[in-house]
Amino acid sequence: MAHPTAFDVQPLPGASFGGLIDVGDIGTFVAAAEAAPDALLNAMIDGHGFLLLKGFRAIADDPGLLVALSRLFGEEVENYRLTTTDDNCIHADHPEILVLTNLPPCDRQPPAKPEPALLPDGSLPVQFPLRRGWHTDQSFRRPPPDISLFCALVPAPRGQGQTLYADGIGAYEALSDEMKARIEDLEGLHIVPGSGRAEYAVRAGETPRELEPREAPQRQPVVRVHPVTGQKALYLCEAGQMDWVEGPLVGMEPGIHGDGARLLYELMEHFTQPRFAYAHEWEAGDLIVYDNRCTIHCATWFDAERHDRVMWRTTVWGNPGPLYDGEERSWMVS
Ligand SMILES: [Fe+2]
Repeated sequence: MAHPTAFDVQPLPGASFGGLIDVGDIGTFVAAAEAAPDALLNAMIDGHGFLLLKGFRAIADDPGLLVALSRLFGEEVENYRLTTTDDNCIHADHPEILVLTNLPPCDRQPPAKPEPALLPDGSLPVQFPLRRGWHTDQSFRRPPPDISLFCALVPAPRGQGQTLYADGIGAYEALSDEMKARIEDLEGLHIVPGSGRAEYAVRAGETPRELEPREAPQRQPVVRVHPVTGQKALYLCEAGQMDWVEGPLVGMEPGIHGDGARLLYELMEHFTQPRFAYAHEWEAGDLIVYDNRCTIHCATWFDAERHDRVMWRTTVWGNPGPLYDGEERSWMVS
């Protein structure tokens, strides 16, 4: 689907999906974006839910700019103070901004290095199960969010702290007809990280903790229909954000050794093949807009002892699709 846009959108180098815009003069760009409010959203949608904007260093001195840009992508930009998010990771003046950094007071540490750290051809391992941690943001909520904006203020050095993305539309379309039919009506059971129900927690024999009603596992379709385009996409997480006690797949044998686990592994291995994936090497001022309804992503290791990394994220809500019509917010129930 092609939309006229006010911007020059290039294909994303090194990827089979995604768009790239070199922002140039910030004032001109923002004025153009505000004059054609759907142009950026459509550019992202045309890229199967991925848009890289290069040149937003101005956000570091003007955090309100990130919030204003986020508003171009949907009805509501999440206020993190209204969630259970740790205050230490919320921007002091802009509660819509989640600050992800290894610096205090947030002190968020990167994931472990995979073994091997690089493949024999020198490339970064992206494919599950060698790479773990693939997820779509906040899929443990119903309705789930639409879009995240993720911006590098202080990136890790080149070769570290990349973010990996995978194209759920491309991966779905490449499935066999038999597999498409098999998963058409299937649901995954998603859970907030830290519940004791993650794959590694179950493997380690942890006792799952008592959950608040607002933390209850949530069903989500494995095949998600995009509310704007009608395109189908795989919608799945793996180790930390699926319920490995009752799930991971509803109606299938549960647990880490069950039929549900086997099918989830098969789908994740397919989803994260290099042909559907992209590894982003961050530069200061890079802003990635990703659609959680049709992409997954994954953080990578960086040397947090030696390097600082500061990233800001916002989350946009409001168009999850008719499947969620009229639902109360699962994370607001008491
Ligand atoms: Fe994420």
